[in-house]
Amino acid sequence: MTLRVSVIGTNYLGATTAAGMAEFGHQVIGVDILPERIAKLNAGTSPIYEHNLEPLLELHTRSGRLRFTTDYAEIADWADVHILCLGTPQSASGAADLSQLHAAIDTLAPQLTRPALILGKSTVPVGTAAELQERARRLAPAGDGVEIAWNPEFLREAFAVEDTLRPDRIVLGVQSSSARTLLEQVYAIPLSEQTPLVTCDLATAELIKVAANAFLATKISFINAMAQMCQAAGGDVTLLADAIGYDSRIGREFLNAGLGFGGGCFPKDIRALAVRADELGVDVLSDFISSVEAINEGQRAAVAELTVAQVGGDISGKRVAVLGASFKPGTDDTRNSPALTVAAQLADQGAEVYVFDPQAVVVRPGLTQAASVEEAVTGADIVLHLTEWPEFRYLDPARLAELVRTRIIIDGRLKLHQPTWQQAGWKIVQIGRAA
Ligand code: UGA
Repeated sequence: MTLRVSVIGTNYLGATTAAGMAEFGHQVIGVDILPERIAKLNAGTSPIYEHNLEPLLELHTRSGRLRFTTDYAEIADWADVHILCLGTPQSASGAADLSQLHAAIDTLAPQLTRPALILGKSTVPVGTAAELQERARRLAPAGDGVEIAWNPEFLREAFAVEDTLRPDRIVLGVQSSSARTLLEQVYAIPLSEQTPLVTCDLATAELIKVAANAFLATKISFINAMAQMCQAAGGDVTLLADAIGYDSRIGREFLNAGLGFGGGCFPKDIRALAVRADELGVDVLSDFISSVEAINEGQRAAVAELTVAQVGGDISGKRVAVLGASFKPGTDDTRNSPALTVAAQLADQGAEVYVFDPQAVVVRPGLTQAASVEEAVTGADIVLHLTEWPEFRYLDPARLAELVRTRIIIDGRLKLHQPTWQQAGWKIVQIGRAA
């Protein structure tokens, strides 16, 4: 059944959700306050680098199922369901900043003259959905006819389209059977392919999302702590991860040791969870998360310190080549990028830092963007492999050896083949593995 769906917010989550909803067969209008972005999207152009997103946008803006506007009046009484896909960035206190969600409700609700379902997808502190419902009901002519449901999103950047079209599970925090029935129609296509459906209350839905991110972040920090243990004892953390990962109760995913996690989600989401846990007096959880964060921050500092030690204790005036700037491969997103944190720390100590990334644009003072790996490494005193783009695995160490001043490479992601680099005359240092 074709529904009329509005998607509010058109960044990563919103643009992908809007395209995905059109692909599910619905009529979709995306809304954003940024006119330039709306113009781009209406032309079928993706505002972000995300695999497969642009073809889907192109297809459905052309098919007429998908369009974008800056005008809330077009969607208010038109849509069967309004999907909130707004950012919840970190505020100065570490808590999630809900101002974009509040602004959207404050604009939409006064225009809701008939009963409406608002479906939140953003990552929010537990309790937000109930609070937004109250806010919307206060402002809407339809009053208590406005209902909120929560449907957290688990999409990964670089796989956003795939995760939207074929989710691992669908979580619906709902308050009424009519909302549940409507949302099952929204998701009829993935649900017909046996996607597990978890229906629950609003608070559980909000918590499921942050628990998933916190658990994945915990896996990464756990393996990074074990990497330090391996380093101290002479073990190999990659073999260790492979071996424990064969246990299906543990699983191999998210056990890649190295520089740790970054991006626009894990760091801010787990901090916001810790802040909310504090507010609710759940100290065990906030303490637990603080340890996960401390290990993660420590990895960045350790790689920066290791770099300084490898060039003899003083990095100032040394030329450093950094391979990778995005927070992970497959995206141009540099928000909270571990690679850029290390690069910036070294630049702050006086190093001349050249960064190459296949997609990301580097705009930090003190860092120079190189147009190629060759340009980045020419004359380098040390090379750092900090984001594991697949193409870096196939670099030719013999050719790069001719360009650098000193053949030292630190593999901050444990993805380079140690013997190949050693055979080409390099000293390759991998964190979590004996040299
Ligand atoms: C993450 C979650 O994986 C998604 O399920 C979630 O929907 C999303 O956050 C969100 O909350 O919006 P994403 O931020 O795109 O997705 O990135 P991930 O692929 O999860 O990677 C996060 C970070 O962990 C990256 O910096 C990556 O390099 C690092 N990582 C990942 C490791 O250091 N080791 C690993 O084994 C795996």
